[in-house]
Amino acid sequence: MKGIILAGGHGSRLHPITLGVSKQLLPVYDKPMVYYPLSVLMLAGVTDIQIISAPGDAAGFQRLLGDGSSLGLTLSYAEQDKPRGLADAFLVSADHIGDEPVALVLGDNIFHGPGFGELLRSSARDVDGCVLFGYPVRDPERYGVGETDASGRLVSIEEKPAAPRSNLAVTGLYFYDNDVVRIARGLRPSERGELEITDVNLAYLRRGKARFVELGRGFVWLDTGTHNALTEASQYVQILEHRQGVRIGCVEEIAWRMGYIDRDACHRLGRALANSPYGQYIMEITEGPAAGAPRAAS
Ligand code: DAU
Repeated sequence: MKGIILAGGHGSRLHPITLGVSKQLLPVYDKPMVYYPLSVLMLAGVTDIQIISAPGDAAGFQRLLGDGSSLGLTLSYAEQDKPRGLADAFLVSADHIGDEPVALVLGDNIFHGPGFGELLRSSARDVDGCVLFGYPVRDPERYGVGETDASGRLVSIEEKPAAPRSNLAVTGLYFYDNDVVRIARGLRPSERGELEITDVNLAYLRRGKARFVELGRGFVWLDTGTHNALTEASQYVQILEHRQGVRIGCVEEIAWRMGYIDRDACHRLGRALANSPYGQYIMEITEGPAAGAPRAAS
């Protein structure tokens, strides 16, 4: 399965912060925002990933992550000339996808929860149609909204409905079979002039091939689209990391625990950042008896 991180857009709701730097490179507490969606794909077992950015921004992502080989990944970069909609990602990345299934994650979405790695890996296996993730929110009218019947089956999806039929937002993480490229090519732009991901998902729903996985109360799904949301996301990560002594979205740790790199390689990545607590954490988890064999990543 190939991966795409969609990290373009104008970030205009965060101006002036995003006038000089891509939104998805901004810090969320101790690491750049893009580490969080990258972690999600890595935990799903996806290692060949294209990062789509706005024009002129690819160099910044490349400076940060390079070709991905130090993390055992294959990373490539593409630019979207303007924000034509989330489904445009499948057109921009058509060559990268080739004839494989694909996981798309939005570069500004943060997920965290118990057993998430295992859930991702099982959801990514043998995708036939699409897999969408629903999350209960207080303000569903801001999102794509999924409605389920009594048995939990998805029956409708609406993009930012004025009168939502449920409180389940469709999160910015999507697994598709290879047909998604053909579906995206056949889309017409919506009223706001974009190729809507909701229209792609509706095409699958009409075929009876849209699976909806509800993330329960124990999960956290945050977006980072406003100044308040960005600050709250940082605070969430700070509180959890400070309290538990673990790191969320530490791509070096995940690369090691998933077996993409070995312990020595991971330790070296930590040493290169040894001046920061982030680097020291990577060194600590990969040395001494506590390190042991890598635990299954969750
Ligand atoms: O966050 C989940 C929601 O994302 C879903 O519930 C909605 O169904 C989906 O349409 C989308 O809604 P948003 O209103 O959040 O989409 P937005 O236009 O803000 O784009 C999300 C991110 O993707 C944002 O960081 C910018 C980036 N983007 C957006 C567009 C339209 C791109 O990189 N390229 C684009 O063409």
